[in-house]
Amino acid sequence: MGVNGLEQERDQWASKIGLILAMAGNAVGLGNFVRFPTQVAQNGGGAFMVPYFLALFLLGIPIMWVEWVAGRYGGKYGHGTIGPTYYLMARESLKPKSALIMGTISGMVAFAGVTLLNSYYLHLIGWSAAYTWFSITGAYFGKNTGSFFSNYLSNHAEVLLFWGITIVTIAIAVGRGVSKGIEKWVKIMMPLLYIFAIIMVGYVFVLGSPINPNWSTLDGFSFIWSPNWVYLKEHFATVMLAAAGQIFFTLSLGMGIIQNYASYLGPNDDVALSGIATVSLNEFAEVILGGSLAIPLATAYAPKIVPATVLSQGKGAALAWIGHKFGLGFAYTSLPNAFVSMGQAGRFFGALWFLLLWFAGWTSAIAMYNYLVALFEEDLNIKRSIGTWIVLLIYFILGLPVIYIGLDKYVTPLDNWISFQLTLLALLDIIVAVYLFKPSNFWEELHKGAYTRVPTFYKWITLIVAPIFLLIPLVGTFKGFVSGGIPGSVGAAIIIMFIIGAVETYYAIKRKYGEEIKENKVLVKV
Ligand code: TRP
Repeated sequence: MGVNGLEQERDQWASKIGLILAMAGNAVGLGNFVRFPTQVAQNGGGAFMVPYFLALFLLGIPIMWVEWVAGRYGGKYGHGTIGPTYYLMARESLKPKSALIMGTISGMVAFAGVTLLNSYYLHLIGWSAAYTWFSITGAYFGKNTGSFFSNYLSNHAEVLLFWGITIVTIAIAVGRGVSKGIEKWVKIMMPLLYIFAIIMVGYVFVLGSPINPNWSTLDGFSFIWSPNWVYLKEHFATVMLAAAGQIFFTLSLGMGIIQNYASYLGPNDDVALSGIATVSLNEFAEVILGGSLAIPLATAYAPKIVPATVLSQGKGAALAWIGHKFGLGFAYTSLPNAFVSMGQAGRFFGALWFLLLWFAGWTSAIAMYNYLVALFEEDLNIKRSIGTWIVLLIYFILGLPVIYIGLDKYVTPLDNWISFQLTLLALLDIIVAVYLFKPSNFWEELHKGAYTRVPTFYKWITLIVAPIFLLIPLVGTFKGFVSGGIPGSVGAAIIIMFIIGAVETYYAIKRKYGEEIKENKVLVKV
């Protein structure tokens, strides 16, 4: 590594298919199978889908391209982290001293996002590992699934065991690097994930009315697919906000992680078609597969899931109950009742469902893990093999509040904060990687080596529509977060991560580009 910050032997994806599967693995996560149905259920079913697709086309797709372009650009200079990459991009319009500020802010937000999201995301994946095992052994069969879950959570040794299995396997894969580690594992796990999901969806399609002729999987499908205009009109702002938040979350945008994976591309590797391929694979997994699992299962088995008192008030009340109950815990507390009702087959389908969640979460978590390892490796010059274990230690510490403070007081408020953060970094994406980088450069980079041309109207969507549209969720989520109150422990975690993120990024940029920042004129160019 020389003064010019160039690293000659930076890892690259070994194959196109490996890259696409890794990106799909990055995006397809618990968000597709748990968070998506939750958002649909809580936002009026069919009412949600209209703003959802709007957000997909006006925010998700353009920002996906911005992040791919930014990542590949940073990779040319040997960077897989946002701080130095955004410093370089901002430098196209600003003097190095001001670019340093933009880079530091962006890197800080990305660092806080990755660390905070992982503090609980890894625990949710760990629960899926546990429940795969509990399904195989039938551990929750014949028990009250709600109390079974709380008992499990209060057994900290067991929680840490399954968390540990999850994170150690990720660490082993990450430790081997991008092409030899991550790529090898996702090439096996992602096809399996799609196969598991398709088998489950096939089963849901033939399920019909397994318990009671009044309740069928069709109730779930019509709940998701009949647009509910009245509901949408009455709750427009809330639903719009939820939809935009879900698009960012599910596509892994606003955290610097798409950029990180894209940084392992060659300078002339396609980003235009690859970006769209990532979006398509994710949306297939979310809308088609994710949309056909939790909700249709919950309606078909409603008599076993919804309390009798609510059931007796009719279908509307029961659906409302499901909508209300859906949340981060639903997959572990209520849905297992569906598997129990399937008898012996339920052990298989329960295990398949939770293993599916584990795979989905695992291949997303590894992307975030790699970001932090790249940060140690490239920003701080610490060897990958050592960085990997430091990250594990950091995750362990950050996960403790999840174990000791819990779902409602820690995870849920933190998850709300994350939604806000994702939109904030998405806005910085447009400000730095498009406007400061210069729109013409952005458009040119997007087409360098591209397998397809992006229609010109997407330039205007990216430049004008997306940033304006972004303000809705940005202001909305911030207001919601403030009015919802910030528990002290969550606030403390956020502030600490922001401070560490800012210091780390500032140091990393100065270390590589100190000379040109001192002189305040661009010296390093590749
Ligand atoms: N997209 C992931 C999911 O659907 C969650 C996620 C959000 C994520 N941001 C990320 C994953 C960044 C990897 C990197 O579950």
